Amino acid sequence: MKILVTGGAGFIGGNFVHYMLDKYPDYQIVNLDLLTYAGNLETLKQAEANPNYTFIKGDISDRGFIMKLFQKEAFDIIVNFAAESHVDRSIMNPGIFVTTNVLGTQVLLEAAKETGVKRYHQVSTDEVYGDLPLDRPDLFFTEETPLHTSSPYSASKASADLFVLAYHRTFGLPVSISRCSNNYGPYHFPEKMIPLMISRALADESLPVYGKGENIRDWLHVEDHCSAIDLIIHGGNAGEVYNVGGHNERTNLEVVKTILRELKKPESLIQYVTDRPGHDRRYAIDPSKLERELGWKPKYHFDTGIRMTIQWYLEHESWWKNILSGDYKNYFSQNYRERLEQG
Ligand code: NAD
Ligand code: TYD
Repeated sequence: MKILVTGGAGFIGGNFVHYMLDKYPDYQIVNLDLLTYAGNLETLKQAEANPNYTFIKGDISDRGFIMKLFQKEAFDIIVNFAAESHVDRSIMNPGIFVTTNVLGTQVLLEAAKETGVKRYHQVSTDEVYGDLPLDRPDLFFTEETPLHTSSPYSASKASADLFVLAYHRTFGLPVSISRCSNNYGPYHFPEKMIPLMISRALADESLPVYGKGENIRDWLHVEDHCSAIDLIIHGGNAGEVYNVGGHNERTNLEVVKTILRELKKPESLIQYVTDRPGHDRRYAIDPSKLERELGWKPKYHFDTGIRMTIQWYLEHESWWKNILSGDYKNYFSQNYRERLEQG
């Protein structure tokens, strides 16, 4: 079995490469990644020694390059993680989200169709469903919830999902889509909330909480996301969407306070800053289809998973400290300078 993993130098794709190489010693895994600011080959150091692993640098939206690659390699399965993935960046610079997330997906679909792959899997997000109100804890996203996006990021991911489903209906391409809630775990880029708060707390810097910190996210350990994708690509029905989430809802403030408590840092580090425009209030996934049809069960509860994740960041300082220089500094000052001054 030859699997193309796109975006495998990012957070979830990197974890997925390790997961698959460990679980399937006879599979060949090809990792295609453009190595944008979010891609980091340090994440794949251990995989490099494995003869079943290959890295290729390239852009999923480069049509000629992708078509040649697919013709040469004859992949069995494609798992597309490659994306611009940060909501705040999509507010500052929406255009690249269309190029990578929408056009890039269509280019991969076309190449998959032309070369007859057995399964094209799109890694999508619960953000395509929009948000839920804070005062209705009884509501959850199901696979039937209408698409209702808020940010340029979620709009681009929803557009990509529609192309994926169109390639199934119109051309019969065997596709599947997973829509997952917020992930956390090792190799998470420190622009996202959990690693950002851990790295700043460790440096005794202020923790910028948007608005009142009341927004709710449904946290899933990245390894549980990997096991879900593994089940879907092997046993999921073509043309289907599967929601992935572990019922671990927390307000942002609860998460930040947990991190401070675990690191024995004072709550006075919390700084309330100007809210994100269009900020989604609550995400909450109903994963019962995946549990019922494919027997998926998450391994991690948030309370233990977050402790293990904090420990990982303590033990892998060089991985994330390398990132907190250069380009990251420019992004941080663009996104936070005014917020921190006003907050
Ligand atoms: P990430 O930003 O950490 O990684 C994205 C990777 O894609 C990077 O390695 C980057 O170099 C690569 N990439 C970007 N543009 C590319 C291009 N044009 N061609 C090839 N490679 C390119 O993202 P992540 O958090 O690992 O998310 C992976 C996928 O999962 C995304 O599709 C995202 O929408 C989805 N997702 C993420 C979460 C989450 O909580 N992080 C939740 C649900 C779904
Ligand atoms: P994030 O990790 O960016 O994921 P997403 O927006 O895709 O859910 O943010 C998670 C939550 O944390 C979200 O409600 C926004 C909030 N947040 C902050 O309060 N401060 C921050 O500096 C960041 C990056 C996020």
